[in-house]
Amino acid sequence: MDKLRIQGGQQLEGRIQISGAKNSALPAMAAALLTSDELILENVPYVNDIYTTRRLLRELGAQIELATDHSVRLRIPKIESIEAPYDLVKTMRASVLVLGPLLARTGRARVSMPGGCAIGARPINLHLKGFEKLGAQVRTEHGYVEASCERLTGADITFDKITVTGTENLMMAAVLAEGRTVLENAAREPEVVDLANLLMKMGAKIEGAGRSTIVIEGVRELKGTTHRIIGDRIEAGTLLVAGAITGGELELTGIHPAHLMSVVEKLRENGVALDVGAELISVYGPHDLAPSDVETLEFPGFPTDMQAQYMVLATQSNGISLIHENIFENRFMHASELMRMGANVRLDGSRAIVAGKTKLTGATVIASDLRASASLVLAGLVADGYSLVDRVYHLDRGYEKLEDKLRSVGAKIERLK
Ligand code: EPU
Repeated sequence: MDKLRIQGGQQLEGRIQISGAKNSALPAMAAALLTSDELILENVPYVNDIYTTRRLLRELGAQIELATDHSVRLRIPKIESIEAPYDLVKTMRASVLVLGPLLARTGRARVSMPGGCAIGARPINLHLKGFEKLGAQVRTEHGYVEASCERLTGADITFDKITVTGTENLMMAAVLAEGRTVLENAAREPEVVDLANLLMKMGAKIEGAGRSTIVIEGVRELKGTTHRIIGDRIEAGTLLVAGAITGGELELTGIHPAHLMSVVEKLRENGVALDVGAELISVYGPHDLAPSDVETLEFPGFPTDMQAQYMVLATQSNGISLIHENIFENRFMHASELMRMGANVRLDGSRAIVAGKTKLTGATVIASDLRASASLVLAGLVADGYSLVDRVYHLDRGYEKLEDKLRSVGAKIERLK
């Protein structure tokens, strides 16, 4: 298993091109199931979750080519299988995103139930309730969700709770349904908007993506198109923290600053100077960081996917920071690893109280999920001496060559095979 070895204490300086957003590319690839035409997606990040999606879509009948320039050609002339098997879903929960498109295109889908993961129980009940509203019969048997329908019919669906992939799954189902669907309390994340933009280019009729109410007028069929995936706001946010805590100067390109204003504003409260351009953000790490409280929320609030990274910044801020995790019930696994490096963190239910500034010292630490592993890499960048981050496969699921990007701006980081 690969590990990352980091020698802390380097100031980072330079420019980094942000990759395409994993959480946008995953539903976009699933959307290829909605047409027999070719779909070309540009700016796809080559991370392990994308390779898992390629395997899954191939099992369903897709022809897929990944070019070296990060453009992906997908064509699914005929659906060969309607099943997302357990061994794929267990490695990537986002596999459930094939449910909506499969149902819409073939009237049938069989998808393994994802089960819990390191950050929480993560049920998919709201996806399933939505499919039922669209007229599907949904059963759960032998660990699989089995759904079937004639043509789906439009309906008014109010989500009990805001769900990102739930909104995406229902949107992909509704675009081919008969009549009008109204999604209320929908997720407003940039990735939802990106998917809606792609679907509209394919011929779907969607209004309101990016707002809480999305209205979809079903059409008979969709066609192929070319679409460029948005930049990854979480990769960008992670690197902003890297610049901030190392007292560095980084320029990040290929990102819409509007997608991460909550992070930019929070960092400004910490005393970090940031310049925001049309498709770039520059960060200037200050000598002293001020503490600040943060609460994770749905977009446009502070993202839960940045909470672990923000905790590292809190350990380097002078004073007490309160971090409140509202989205997932078990997303503080990184805290105990950070404490092993010297962080002063107290957990109290969904809150973490972080007292800074503490000197971190290099240690061997274990990543528990994607964003937790990013936080441990960040901690390694400021720790005294060497850190060894184990179970890097979590990082590889969602960050494209993070160590190469960090090395290019002066970090001392290497991968041990
Ligand atoms: N929820 C339910 N029932 C459902 C669906 C969700 O109770 O049917 C709950 C969840 O348990 C959670 C909350 O609603 O407490 C929000 O979950 P959501 O459905 O929005 O999460 P998701 O769609 O499974 C996506 C991202 C996550 C990101 C969350 C929140 C993708 C592929 N994944 O997950 O990304 O944390 O939204 O923004 O888009 C990551 O990239 O590291 C990652 C975990």
